[in-house]
Amino acid sequence: ERARIVVIGSTMMDMISYMPRIPDAGETLFGDRFALGFGGKGANQAVMARLLGADVSMVCCVGTDVFGDLTVDNFRAAGIDTSYVTRTSEASSGVAPIWVEAGGHNRIVCVAGANAYLTEEQATTAVESVPRVDVVVGQFEVPQAVTAAGFRAAKARGAVTVLNPAPAAQVSPELLAVTDWLIPNEVEFEFLTGGDGASSDEAIAASAKRFGVNMVATLGDRGATIVDSSGAAERITPSPAAVVDTTGAGDAFVGAFSYGLAAGLSPTAAARLGCACATSSVARPGTQSSFPRATQLDEALAWAASA
Ligand code: RIB
Ligand code: NA
Repeated sequence: ERARIVVIGSTMMDMISYMPRIPDAGETLFGDRFALGFGGKGANQAVMARLLGADVSMVCCVGTDVFGDLTVDNFRAAGIDTSYVTRTSEASSGVAPIWVEAGGHNRIVCVAGANAYLTEEQATTAVESVPRVDVVVGQFEVPQAVTAAGFRAAKARGAVTVLNPAPAAQVSPELLAVTDWLIPNEVEFEFLTGGDGASSDEAIAASAKRFGVNMVATLGDRGATIVDSSGAAERITPSPAAVVDTTGAGDAFVGAFSYGLAAGLSPTAAARLGCACATSSVARPGTQSSFPRATQLDEALAWAASA
């Protein structure tokens, strides 16, 4: 049977400006290029899992505006189930103005808008009513209580839960209690632990133990460190890539890792798949638009299987 994933999370319209450098306060600069793209961590992760072949249901809330229409169309075009997409007229669809400077680094402002209107009941109902579910995925761009409600329903059905604590914030105890896999990047790791960053595998293993979860810390071009229930840390090192735009690379990782778990890969193989898809995505501009397609997906799957 196909991997079956439910993503509880955000959608954003990414409004991406490419520029030689970031302007100073009070300064105006000419940018090089603008692109409107589909983003939001939840939506990105859903699309990545779908590209790999999972059946994906998206649980989210968009506005009654044109961005909401476009977002729903984008999910349909990708073959993602939109039965659990709700709409509110109380707020705009989520938007994310993004600045990308030469070298590929980005700065993002998320305006949650409609994402804040997703309810616990919607998340619970969705997870309880999908025909089958292997993995439920969440992030921090919708209220944590909503994700916790969906994760509780997931645990009750025997599904695995994957939390990407992004953008950086503390995890509520009620959400942590129903999280199987926690996947922070270095900034988020530092925020969660109040420590000096995720530079050492020992520090990552220690915090997985402290939080009582399995963990994958994503380390940018240094790959990822995975700590499974054995408590041992393992570093995964991807092949080097030319960096054009790192936006969404973390989401490519989380979507691909979640697909891997749902498809029955070992956690290490799933994390290798995540690294390969993230590495592929940084070579192209944009967010979902940069995610790997057919040939690159085959390469990523082969690399994951060679673990
Ligand atoms: O992780 C990248 C995403 O973060 C972007 O698509 C943007 O929408 C923000 O939510
Ligand atoms: Na990219």
